[in-house]
Amino acid sequence: MKAISIGLLGLGTVGCGVVKIIKKNQDKLIHQVGCPVIIKKILVQDLHKERPVEIDTKVLTSNADEILFDKEIDVVIEVMGGVQDTKDYLITALRQGKHVVTANKDLMALHGSELLTVASEHGCDLFYEASVAGGIPILRGLVDGLASDRIKQLMGIVNGTTNYILTKMSDEGRSYEEVLKEAQELGFAEADPTSDVEGLDAARKMTILATLGFSMHIDLEDVQVSGISKVTDEDLRYGKQLGYTMKLIGYAHREGEKVEVSVAPTFLSNNHPLASVQNEYNAVYVYGESVGETMFYGPGAGSLPTATAIVSDLVAVIKNLRLGVNGRSAVTPQYPKQLKDNGE
Ligand code: NAP
Ligand code: HSE
Repeated sequence: MKAISIGLLGLGTVGCGVVKIIKKNQDKLIHQVGCPVIIKKILVQDLHKERPVEIDTKVLTSNADEILFDKEIDVVIEVMGGVQDTKDYLITALRQGKHVVTANKDLMALHGSELLTVASEHGCDLFYEASVAGGIPILRGLVDGLASDRIKQLMGIVNGTTNYILTKMSDEGRSYEEVLKEAQELGFAEADPTSDVEGLDAARKMTILATLGFSMHIDLEDVQVSGISKVTDEDLRYGKQLGYTMKLIGYAHREGEKVEVSVAPTFLSNNHPLASVQNEYNAVYVYGESVGETMFYGPGAGSLPTATAIVSDLVAVIKNLRLGVNGRSAVTPQYPKQLKDNGE
């Protein structure tokens, strides 16, 4: 099989991780997919910025068309973030017959259904495992691993930045501002960390999880959201004295045919399995009617863990290419919307 050419949109925290993993694991990749994987072009804003990866600067471009309309590029990996321009880029890529892998939960929570429709119309894969819980293979776990079950409840810590902040404030008595800055430096936080600390990032991930878990399209605007920006060290200290740990918890459950989703800072008893999830780690507890309790755990943010999920999606795309089944993969289903109380 000929080499697979990649166009990478973005070379920040996650993009650099993708470059590193493709280079480091090239032998394993070739063994798995039967051909070399080449990064042909990389879109960035600043062509002259210093990067923490070795890269031939000739592959850098600030013109997205050089990737989107390059007939030799088979797969576009989107790790630039943003919504409107990024959506336009990905729709163009799919219409050009390119398969897409993205880590962008903002985009998938808002426009996932539309993008998945365009992908299937053009026989393309659109995979987004890295958009929820970084390196944890939770989307495939839900869609494939628990395909035979009916999910009753999802409960999770799905934002690494806030879990890092709450852990360091509670265990080390450090200030909110200081730890937030550290989470930004470590590459866990979004470009604008407001979406992390106000719970919106977690709400976007819960929208994706609930849509896949309950086989029903969930609107982001229906998620009840509150964040951690008003949590004080006193709140954490008093909770601790009483045997409780505060976590930003995403919760989704189904009653009959109705699904409710929320995100809020929540005191958990110290012996609750989610209470011991620390730092940038995430965990998602899933209760299925037949399987009972399961829990998925691992690093929820950061360069290499997130890139691991992306490169695994890439392997899935290439395997589908070999089988000629792109655009029909199980992890990209589209579901009907749930009816609201007013019947709309
Ligand atoms: P980042 O470090 O800010 O990197 C963004 C990259 O995209 C930079 O290389 C930037 O170019 C480029 N870029 C941004 N806007 C652009 C534009 N309009 N035109 C051309 N290039 C543009 O972000 P990140 O942390 O890697 O996150 C990327 C995506 O992954 C986001 O959707 C994020 O939500 C998601 N994600 C992140 C993590 C994580 O732990 N960081 C985990 C899971 C998912 P320059 O370098 O030239 O400025
Ligand atoms: N800002 C996100 C977080 C990155 O802290 O969880 C991973 O999606």
